[in-house]
Parts: sequence; C-alpha cells; structure tokens
Amino acid sequence: MIHSSSSIWCFHSTFIPKLNNSVIQPKNNRCQVKKRFSRSSPLLVASTPTASKQMTRVPRNPNLAKLEAGYLFPEIARRRNAYLEKHPTANIISLGIGDTTQPIPAHVAQKMAERALALATPEGYSGYGPDLGDPELRKKISERLYGGKVDIDEVFVSDGAKCDIGRLQMMFGPGVDIAVQDPSYPVYVDSAVIVGQTGTKNGSLYENIRYMTCLPENNFFPQLDKVPRADIIFFCSPNNPTGAAATREQLEKLVQYAKNNGSIIVYDAAYAPFIRDENIPQSIFEIEGANEVALECNSFSKYAGFTGVRLGWVVCPKSLQFADGSFVHKDFRRIFTTCFNGASSLAQAGGLAVLDDKGMQEVRRLTDYYLENAHILSSAMRDLGLKVFGGENSPYVWVQFPGRSSWDIFEELLERAQIVTVPGSGFGSGGESFLRLSAFASREQCLEAKSRLEKMFGK
Ligand SMILES: Cc1ncc(COP(=O)(O)O)c(C=O)c1O
Repeated sequence: MIHSSSSIWCFHSTFIPKLNNSVIQPKNNRCQVKKRFSRSSPLLVASTPTASKQMTRVPRNPNLAKLEAGYLFPEIARRRNAYLEKHPTANIISLGIGDTTQPIPAHVAQKMAERALALATPEGYSGYGPDLGDPELRKKISERLYGGKVDIDEVFVSDGAKCDIGRLQMMFGPGVDIAVQDPSYPVYVDSAVIVGQTGTKNGSLYENIRYMTCLPENNFFPQLDKVPRADIIFFCSPNNPTGAAATREQLEKLVQYAKNNGSIIVYDAAYAPFIRDENIPQSIFEIEGANEVALECNSFSKYAGFTGVRLGWVVCPKSLQFADGSFVHKDFRRIFTTCFNGASSLAQAGGLAVLDDKGMQEVRRLTDYYLENAHILSSAMRDLGLKVFGGENSPYVWVQFPGRSSWDIFEELLERAQIVTVPGSGFGSGGESFLRLSAFASREQCLEAKSRLEKMFGK
C-alpha cells in the first residue's frame, strides 16, 4: 500500500528525530557536516513505511553541495524544448552536444558481433579479462598510437576517458590542488569539487583551483609565468571547447613548467585523431621528458564513434613519481583494479579492429568527414564577419561575439535560425561571449545551418 498523504508523514515525524545538517568550513578548507538533533531520543527508531518521506541519518557529502546542479546541458535542453513547445513544427539543427553521429565502421561492428556470438560457445566464452585490458589491444595501442614508445604495462584499457578522469581524481585525493584551462571540459573541475580538492564557489570560480585563461589574446595557451603552482595540471589538446591545438613548442613549455614546479600533467588527448598539422603532437609523450611529469587519457569515442560502446585508455608511465618517491603507476593500478573490473570484451574486440589497417583508414575517413563539417561551419561564420577559432585540427568551432553574452547569442540563434549551439560561458568564465559549434552532425545539417546563418545575418 502506498501512503502518499501528508498525515502519515506528520504522524511519523513526531517519532523521527529531526536532523539539522549544517555545513561548517574547517581550517583545512575541507567541509564537514555537523549533526544536531533537535530532540535527544536515542531510543526512537526512525522507521516509516512511506519510503518517499523517509529521511535517513546519513550526512550528505558536503562536496556535492558545492557543485552546481548539472546546469549547462539541462538548461540547453530546457530552452530547446520551450522553443519546440511554441513552434512544434520547427526543424531544429543541433550543433550542441559533442556526440558522434556517423555509424561505426562495418568491419569494427562485425568483430564485436563475432566476439558476442563466441561468448555463446564453450570454446569462445570468457569472463573477467586481464586487469589492465587485453594485452593484444594494449600492444596495438602502444604500437599504432605511440610508435611503440610506451610499454604495454603502462597502458590501462578502460571504459572511457570520463571515467578515467574520475578514477585519477580518486587516486590524487583531496590533498592536491589543480589547474585547469579556462574555458575547459567541465569534468576536471566537477571531479575536483567532488573529491574535495576545492573550496566553495565564489561567482564563477572555485576556491583552490588555478584557472589558466585561454583567450585569443594568448593564442589559447596559458601564460604559464602568471599561473601559480598547482599539483595537478589538466590540459586538453585539441581543446574542448575552444578547438585550439597546442603546438610542439607550447607543449615543451608546458612540460618544462611542470618539471620546474614538480607538478603532474593530466593530458587529455581525446581529440587527437583530428590533428592534421605536423607540428601539433598527437600525444604529450612526443615531448621529451614528459614521462617524468605526465600521464595521458584517451578514448575510442571520437576515433570510431564509440561514445555508446565505451572504450578508452590511460597511459601512466612507470617513471612517474609522487613527492615521497612512490610510483603513480602502482597507485593507479590499485585504484583501477578496485573500482573497475575491466573494459567489455566486446568493446575491446572492436578496439582491436579500429587499430588494424582497415580500421585506421576508417578513422581517417570519419574524422575527415567531421573536419569538413567544421570547415563548412567555420567558413560560414567567418564569411559573416565573425571571429572564428578552432575547427582545423578539431571538431569544435569557437566563435566570438564581442560584448555579447553567450546565452543571448545562443537564444538568438535558436529563435532566428533554429540552431542549437553551446554557450561558451558554460565551460567557464573564459568562455563568455563565445559559442561552441560542434561538427558532430551530418553534412546536410551543416550545409543547412550555413544557409540559415546567411539568411539570419542578411547575406
Ligand atoms: C575533452 C574530453 N575528454 C574526455 C571526454 C570523454 O570521453 P569518453 O567518451 O571516453 O568518456 C570528452 C567527451 O566529450 C571530452 O570532450
């Protein structure tokens, strides 16, 4: 029987001690919850049949209270839906969320299907795999993507880069401080808040995070001599959202900066397959000495449309050490094997196919397709007289609208051209006055977006 009435609640509430949780800020900047009971009645048992009304005595993790509720994408969806309610027949083009749209290459899907069918046979069945992933796949990753320069024991095969960032943060724990590019992929900051590396949010900035502003004025590369030291530096190139890809010289500076400061770089290379320029490294390990100060996350998501399949990897050099001389590899392995039981064997079979000769040609074809979309979008914006960045070694086009708020432009494009984008301010204050356009759409949609933009701006 479901009790929905408030009378049940009122009845039980006379028995349940009321818990007033107040968050207090202790000296070390980490929050604790102080519990106070308004009635002292230890003998009373807090039980009620109305599950929906039951409050436990479990304190909420105060770090979660510091987070803003996933604001950006739900807000975009809300505004899009509100528009559709008013204009139900509108044909909205989404250049918003960075999810792939083109099908997985057929021979890759075939290998996953074969692996799935083999699981139904006694000879082909396998259960848990090796803890760091299929050795054949790790070898292929090392050979194909790192020219054999990383040891296969340094490759951790996972269910994707986002999960790896969370596991890395769990390993680093609350005692470190981080630096991020501003604007940046929101997961670095949110995971830092969740594990307790930050204080509270003041305006748009969290206490204890070093924000490395990346604007056109500094070619989207931080002025490192102005950045206060941080333990961990999250660096994403090609960058989400700005589309900027760091050159070899810039990455050399970054590695040197980390060495000078005794910092660790977490290098996010999720968009590496979009790089076409020879002077832009595909991996931080192309920079000499990086194996002493960096680890790298990457993912099959954007290589071959694996956003739903889920497969990624981390390269954690065996030479990377913490301040006490202990090895990061050892701790990461401990976290990895505690919180994760290995990537799906089907996904790994697909990953192997992505990295064979045919697969690599398909990766090139797919990324060329999105890069051509990016070119269509960026040249359309440029022809309209706007300042456009990214879109060359990246699927993201970053458009500047000086003096205007990102949300205003977002709204205007939705209202007048039925195009959904992402307001740059959602990626941090450094993204204010910008819009991010994602090339992960169909060619037809990009061409249609171009013609709508031309109409909208009267060209
Ligand atoms: C910079 C960056 N890193 C990591 C990810 C997550 O990748 P995955 O799908 O492997 O979790 C994304 C996804 O959009 C991303 O933009």
